[in-house]
Amino acid sequence: MSGNEKVTALTLKNFKKKKEKIACMTAYDAAFGQILDNIGIDVILVGDSVGMVVQGHQTTVPVSIEDMIYHSKMVNRGVNRAMIMVDMPFMSYATPAECLANAALLMKEGGAEFIKLEWGELEIDMVKRLTECGIPVCAHLGLTPQAIHKYGGYRVQGRELEAAKKMQDDALSLVEAGADLLLLECVPIELAKNITIESKVPVIGIGAGKEVDGQILVLYDAIDIAPGKRTRFSKNFMEQEGSIQGALKAYVKEVKSGLFPSKEYSFD
Ligand code: KIV
Repeated sequence: MSGNEKVTALTLKNFKKKKEKIACMTAYDAAFGQILDNIGIDVILVGDSVGMVVQGHQTTVPVSIEDMIYHSKMVNRGVNRAMIMVDMPFMSYATPAECLANAALLMKEGGAEFIKLEWGELEIDMVKRLTECGIPVCAHLGLTPQAIHKYGGYRVQGRELEAAKKMQDDALSLVEAGADLLLLECVPIELAKNITIESKVPVIGIGAGKEVDGQILVLYDAIDIAPGKRTRFSKNFMEQEGSIQGALKAYVKEVKSGLFPSKEYSFD
């Protein structure tokens, strides 16, 4: 943990420079926001995974911008130090005008300090415009769950040479356009490593191996209360600790020391 100063985009860039791993976790309310903040998490993502783990939907598709604002407000009330990143939900950024208007709503009403968008619905020009407007952007690549009906299932992305090259090129174009953070989901270790080496901004991984600059997990997976089947890359930290605080502290410690994710939670 690096002091009590508010975590910003600059802090994250310095972490990358110093090779200090960035510990991120999702949260959806003030109580968990406060617990995570107190144990030294660097970034809290108000994720659209709220649709699956809290609202009980099968996918993130039904989540609305109003849902995201409601949960961001709650998380904000519990957090002082951690940076608060908020997901733009499905079809809230399909056009440049909607993208700007909804990003502004998340910041003005929800208190978002960073917004995350999935590559696909997100376009390069949107990143440029958000950047010009002073909105910090995290671009989510690899498995992008908002497009799940197009993929037809949750699978590792970028295994074939051509797909890997495209992901690497896309990632670098997004950084060039102004993205301040990349998030890679379900990506082979080697590809995630190459993107991390090439990227001048931090790369956060979930199911992307340990060679990235930081890790994120869905809170309810880490504390074993998520409904449905466990994803291969999400470790149950409750198993070894037995209390929520203990489990989350163990997560931060294992991320910071590079212990998590081991091979068992990664893809070749
Ligand atoms: O919404 C979410 O939980 C995510 C994960 C990748 C952390 O986007």
